[in-house]
Amino acid sequence: MKHTDIRDIFRDPAPFLGQTVTVCGWVRTARDSKNIAFIEINDGTFLTNLQLVVDKEKLDESVYKDAMAVGTSVKAEGVLVASERNGCEVELTKLTVLGTCGADYPLQKKRHSLEFLRTIPHLRVRTRTFEAVFAVRDQLSHAVHNYFHKHGYRYVHAPIITGSDCEGAGEMFRVTTQPWNAAAESEEAYYAEDFFGKKAGLTVSAQLEGEMAAMGLGRIYTFGPTFRAEHSNTTRHAAEFWHIEPEVCFCDIDDIIEIAEDFIKSIIRDVMENCPEEMAFFDQWMEKGLLDKLTHTVESDFARVTYTEAVKLLRESGQDFKFPVEWGADLQTEHERYMTEEVFKRPLFVVDYPAEIKSFYMKQNPDGKTVAATDLLVPGIGEIIGCSEREADLGKLLEAMKKRGMSTEFYEEYLDTRRFGSVPHSGFGLGFDRMMMYLTGVQNIRDVLLFPRTVGNL
Ligand code: 4AD
Ligand code: MG
Repeated sequence: MKHTDIRDIFRDPAPFLGQTVTVCGWVRTARDSKNIAFIEINDGTFLTNLQLVVDKEKLDESVYKDAMAVGTSVKAEGVLVASERNGCEVELTKLTVLGTCGADYPLQKKRHSLEFLRTIPHLRVRTRTFEAVFAVRDQLSHAVHNYFHKHGYRYVHAPIITGSDCEGAGEMFRVTTQPWNAAAESEEAYYAEDFFGKKAGLTVSAQLEGEMAAMGLGRIYTFGPTFRAEHSNTTRHAAEFWHIEPEVCFCDIDDIIEIAEDFIKSIIRDVMENCPEEMAFFDQWMEKGLLDKLTHTVESDFARVTYTEAVKLLRESGQDFKFPVEWGADLQTEHERYMTEEVFKRPLFVVDYPAEIKSFYMKQNPDGKTVAATDLLVPGIGEIIGCSEREADLGKLLEAMKKRGMSTEFYEEYLDTRRFGSVPHSGFGLGFDRMMMYLTGVQNIRDVLLFPRTVGNL
């Protein structure tokens, strides 16, 4: 169906003015008056609706009658003329209804709450908010790929079905083809009958595979879905989220922090440059001051504090936190947000966490208590990046696994990378959907995902 994208018309109307254009879209609003009717359509390519003007003296009612219903899909033809409203509009000459739409269409009103829209994920893409969300999501994805491509990283595709649990501690979804009523004497016997002949699950992180790929390719990144069966029913947790995980050889913790900061700033700049209308929309409707916040972010040096200093600072803050702060305990979102929002007022790297609250693969610091790991915290959200230098020493790695009661059985290949030419290397994981929240001001992760998966919601 030959037609012009509404985006192309609005971005540069000059060549179309005075010409006949063919456009397609869904009716967003329609107004009728004595001699004239207005039908606004949107085709998903641009936030602004294109207005079709119906001269009732020239067009028979039968032509446009059905298109007066919100939600109807149409193909329209007419002459593009300059207009005070949005710069241009179409004087309708011909209209074809592609699909009619009844009065039970749920998007009749102009504004709906995000909560209501969450109940109709299949239709909410027909609202300005979600058009903007998905325009930015698309641009952000390209920004990620462009950044790594430009800096010589190989994009690798790690498996989604895996036998090892990277982050540890039972958050994995199981993958099985066993019948629902399969009986077995033991867990082992049960999985022996299963598709892979052993227990399998959906990946919680591509890091371990990423490390193995990097230990030959030098610099890699993965960008794919990640699954966590944690029962965290918060606005920042999804059971299925998109995860960006670079892994870099010959790179220590300071190098990777520098990369992470440069990367975050670069992808923010990219989206601000390429989605100006959407970002202005979010600034107006989602988070007042969003553009200033992001400009400040790309222009500032991210702050840095050690975990030990952070604990001291939080304990001396005089704040009444719900969770007490003690050296050795994980920082909670309230602590993270207090530090980035009230103390540092910009993104903050917290470095050198206690080994006990972090994963086995992190490089052990000489103090014997902490690891070369950092979380990047941002105002409004808390943690968006988990990052570390990896333990490159086989002996130390084995010791860390033993301490955690991990069997080496599933990790022999991973351990080979330390046996055969081990090198200092580091990497991080950025939650793509959390980055989307930071970029758009959207406060609930459910509103940056097409069909969000969360506890009890499929
Ligand atoms: O901190 P995490 O668990 O780190 C890892 O998985 C490392 N293996 C990454 C690496 O070094 N390659 O997760 C990394 C990031 C978090 O900072 C957060 O932004 C996001 O992934 N994340 C989630 N996002 C949405 N929903 C969830 N349930 C998430 N869990 C983690
Ligand atoms: Mg983490």
